[in-house]
Amino acid sequence: MAYNLLKGKRGLIFGALNDKSIAWKIAEKVCEEGANIVLTNTPVSIRMGEIDRLAEKCGTIVIPADATDVEELENLVEKGRAHLNGNFDFVLHSIGMSPNVRKGRTYDDLDYGLLSKTLDISAISFHKILQICRKLDAINRWGSVVALSYVAAQRTLYGYNDMADAKALLESIARSFGYIYGREKNIRINTVSQSPTMTTAGSGIMGFDNLMDFTDRMSPLGNATAEECADYVITLFSDLTRKITMQNLYHDGGYSSMGMSFRAMKIYNEGLEYRDVKNDKSKVEKQ
Ligand SMILES: NC(=O)c1ccc[n+]([C@@H]2O[C@H](COP(=O)([O-])OP(=O)(O)OC[C@H]3O[C@@H](n4cnc5c(N)ncnc54)[C@H](O)[C@@H]3O)[C@@H](O)[C@H]2O)c1
Repeated sequence: MAYNLLKGKRGLIFGALNDKSIAWKIAEKVCEEGANIVLTNTPVSIRMGEIDRLAEKCGTIVIPADATDVEELENLVEKGRAHLNGNFDFVLHSIGMSPNVRKGRTYDDLDYGLLSKTLDISAISFHKILQICRKLDAINRWGSVVALSYVAAQRTLYGYNDMADAKALLESIARSFGYIYGREKNIRINTVSQSPTMTTAGSGIMGFDNLMDFTDRMSPLGNATAEECADYVITLFSDLTRKITMQNLYHDGGYSSMGMSFRAMKIYNEGLEYRDVKNDKSKVEKQ
């Protein structure tokens, strides 16, 4: 059901690769809510993914840009607002990639050149987008900027690797730039810390199926889906949330406030019984 929450607003959406992408679901939803948008991704992702199909659905264009490249971002911002006939009211950063994860380098054996790339793609790109938008004065007063984050910024999760550092930096950039843009133009900047979600980027994380099962068991409301994330993000782009800024907002079914749940404990107990049975023959005989 649509509420016309974004009627007449203009937006720039980074990171829709295919119909599993969180940015894809958000793009669909902002269009349903009446916004006009411009989509962007890297040239290679545009070729390999399905973003053209999304553009057709939303009646818009895709402007290629590598979010680590300042010149390409400047070109994107200029062309994007020209296409929309005006400045942006909202911007979505839904970008993440770790070359260390891709190459199987563990956190205690990082390649530092690749670490720089992880940070550049997944976090510093957010600063670049904000800095360019500000210099070109491309976001309207009371605009809203959201980036997607993950709880690994606060807590250590096995296998998340250098993306944890990237997310910590991303959230810090939201606060630091949120102060500047808020004070100057009432523009708010927040990160949404989403549950594990089965997407191309998500499934690159080691043991992702088990992680999703664990977080679902730990969350009283269960894992949040990409569609539910889109529902949340449209409220952040709308005028109903104009005084929320510089926050990391958990959208995770309650996971981040949990220590242990009954549903997770149950699996753990079953695992222990299995271990006891395996290690203790007398127990096997008793059963
Ligand atoms: N999937 C999850 O479990 C999960 C959980 C929490 C947060 N997130 C975050 O959500 C965001 C979106 O990821 P997703 O899960 O939808 O996966 P996805 O693979 O669909 O999206 C990642 C996007 O980043 C883009 N990208 C990579 N390098 C880029 C560059 N240099 N310039 C511009 N774009 C680039 C890719 O083309 C892709 O569209 C990421 O920030 C991710 O860390 C994902």
